[in-house]
Amino acid sequence: MAVAAAPASATGAERDVEASINDLLGRMTIEEKVGQLNQLSGYGYNPAMTGQVKAGAVGSILNETDPAVVNALQRDAVENSRLGIPLIFARDVIHGFKTIFPIPLGQAATWDPSIVEEGARIAADEASSVGIRWTFSPMVDIARDARWGRIAEGFGEDPVLAGTLGAAMVRGYQTDDLSRPNTMAACMKHFAGYGASESGKDYNTTWIPEELLRDVYLPPFKLGADAGAATFMCSFNDINGVPSSGNRKLVRDILRGEWGYDGVMVSDWGSINQMIPHGYSADLRHSAQQAANAGVDIDMESYAYISHLKELVESGEVSEQDLDTMVANVLRLKYRLGLFDNPYVDEATARRFYAPASLAAAQKAVEQSAILLKNTGTLPINSKVKKIAVVGPMADAQHDQAGTWSFDLEKERCVTPLTSLREKYGAANVLYAQGLRHSRDKATDGFAEAVKAARKADVALFFAGEEAVLSGEAHCRTDITLPGAQAALLKALKATGTPVVLVIQAGRPLALSNVEADADAIVFCFHGGTMAGPGLTRLLAGEENFSGRCPVSFPRVSGQTPIYYNHKNTGRPAEGITLIDDIEIEAGQTSTGCTSYFMDAGDGPLYPFGYGMSYTTFSYTPPTLSAPEIAADGTLTVKCTVTNTGTVAGREVAQLYIRDHVASLIRPVRELRRFEKVELQPGESRELTFTLTGADLAYHIDGARTAVEPGEFSVWVAPDAQSGEAARFEIKK
Ligand code: BGC
Repeated sequence: MAVAAAPASATGAERDVEASINDLLGRMTIEEKVGQLNQLSGYGYNPAMTGQVKAGAVGSILNETDPAVVNALQRDAVENSRLGIPLIFARDVIHGFKTIFPIPLGQAATWDPSIVEEGARIAADEASSVGIRWTFSPMVDIARDARWGRIAEGFGEDPVLAGTLGAAMVRGYQTDDLSRPNTMAACMKHFAGYGASESGKDYNTTWIPEELLRDVYLPPFKLGADAGAATFMCSFNDINGVPSSGNRKLVRDILRGEWGYDGVMVSDWGSINQMIPHGYSADLRHSAQQAANAGVDIDMESYAYISHLKELVESGEVSEQDLDTMVANVLRLKYRLGLFDNPYVDEATARRFYAPASLAAAQKAVEQSAILLKNTGTLPINSKVKKIAVVGPMADAQHDQAGTWSFDLEKERCVTPLTSLREKYGAANVLYAQGLRHSRDKATDGFAEAVKAARKADVALFFAGEEAVLSGEAHCRTDITLPGAQAALLKALKATGTPVVLVIQAGRPLALSNVEADADAIVFCFHGGTMAGPGLTRLLAGEENFSGRCPVSFPRVSGQTPIYYNHKNTGRPAEGITLIDDIEIEAGQTSTGCTSYFMDAGDGPLYPFGYGMSYTTFSYTPPTLSAPEIAADGTLTVKCTVTNTGTVAGREVAQLYIRDHVASLIRPVRELRRFEKVELQPGESRELTFTLTGADLAYHIDGARTAVEPGEFSVWVAPDAQSGEAARFEIKK
């Protein structure tokens, strides 16, 4: 059965591909079609796998990283199966393959699409050199709750930032020609709403009103689709009672229908099967039917399609037309990847890892992702400093600095802060005492040595944080403070009187209000990857200036989560905060003033979204607007001049926020619409120009309908989500 004619706009090559797909479909048995939709995990060249490949019962394989095995399996598909359709080899390569970049949340702190794109390009080059042509990345799930371990894998809480960086990652993996052998197909995941898992507990249910879904959770996916992402993956969670893997509205109506997406939709690992415990499918057969009818093309490791799809097509519960469309999507991806022409990996040039330029790019990513959260003048380490105490469980933790989901890590390649600091300052001047064996360690027996080192030093650098395994999939925490006895060790260091710099590598923003006062400076680096040590050393030494900015709000305490800058104002915004210790005994119930805050944490984050310090300072002029009033379909030009008012060069991330003051559905206090990173020499100014259109001022109302409502708006160009001067304008009636 022919799937569809190529659209009128199709190029000659695209028409040829569609003709080849139709030709193949015409020759395939139902079993062979279903085989294309079956994705299995590798685990070597074994008879069970080769038998299935030769029978045409598997279309793609994940987790195989040995190029010889990749080629052997590919040979079985291309030379020893009836139709010779190549396999695709897939892998989670989410922040580097061998050269590990900062975790995606760390990359988001660069606010720099070019860094993210370059990292993805390097990852694709390395991974494709062993035959991996499909990565399950980028993850663009908006995460407002740092208890959720997978916040590490995404780009934070804002749809514009996450979508811009997700699209950059897609471009880096795919380039403009996916058929080049050193590309990987990207995968926008997890569609959709996974980051809203209730209470930050992984796999948990989500309840997301359609307007919020469309305003916040879907836009990064749309930007990825527009950037040409070849594939999408559905999520584990249910959304408003329907698991994503069986969610017709999400996949068929929105992704395929409204967005016209014609790439591949893969399930998550076992997620078709998991519709049974969800309570949505009666059994595996039922789940296969629901997933196929929802528009999920590939079944990753549920064995639902391979077990039941043929029977479902024969009974008419899944149409043959739909089956053919699913298979055509997979075949089209194989054509786009050039696999029909060039199925094998070149074993002679395999394992292109750790090129000097790749390591330099990874280091640059660290340098621009680390955020200076606090500095009372302790940093940079100045020339009067002769002895440096290096303390803490993350100072020399090669494995842990790589961060979550680094499956192909060779930890001995990770250069730690201790190694780089010794190199820079001389081993004799670096007094190392680990203090705690790992981040969860509660034993205090190492404190004395650490304190001794701090006493002898001019500055103490305390490398703290979370081990890699404390974030990522299925690694959620209810208490997101520094684990183990790290806060106690910091206190002990502080008590020595030696200035203390707290350098944190973690998989999420941590709640730092219990340690903030004990540190003279705080550097937050997330997990920095292979080159975390050299990158951090250059920053601490002042050879490089800090330019990382918070891609998420940092809560004061765990109980403040979920927390995000683009919240609603409430009818009683926080005012005149009275904290718990200031409430009188037997005070009346109205003693806290009855506004919206926590009496034990006040209001707002410890460090807001967008925030980050530098060794220099920047000033912003108030924004000037092209007009005080625009039509709903008009454009507005916003100008602002940013000046480096300090004495060293630096990079600043100027952030444009808007607020719609009165709306039929209340709008957030601020929403990011644009950002621009600028590099300025001391005294240098740059005028920035941003153009906003009606689409930037619109929001969803009544589900899918968008509205740009007349009335008053504010616009800021600011260094973070809480500061800056606003200019006002109106949308005309
Ligand atoms: C994760 C996905 C990942 C897949 C394959 C799942 O557990 O949710 O993000 O791509 O495994 O490894």
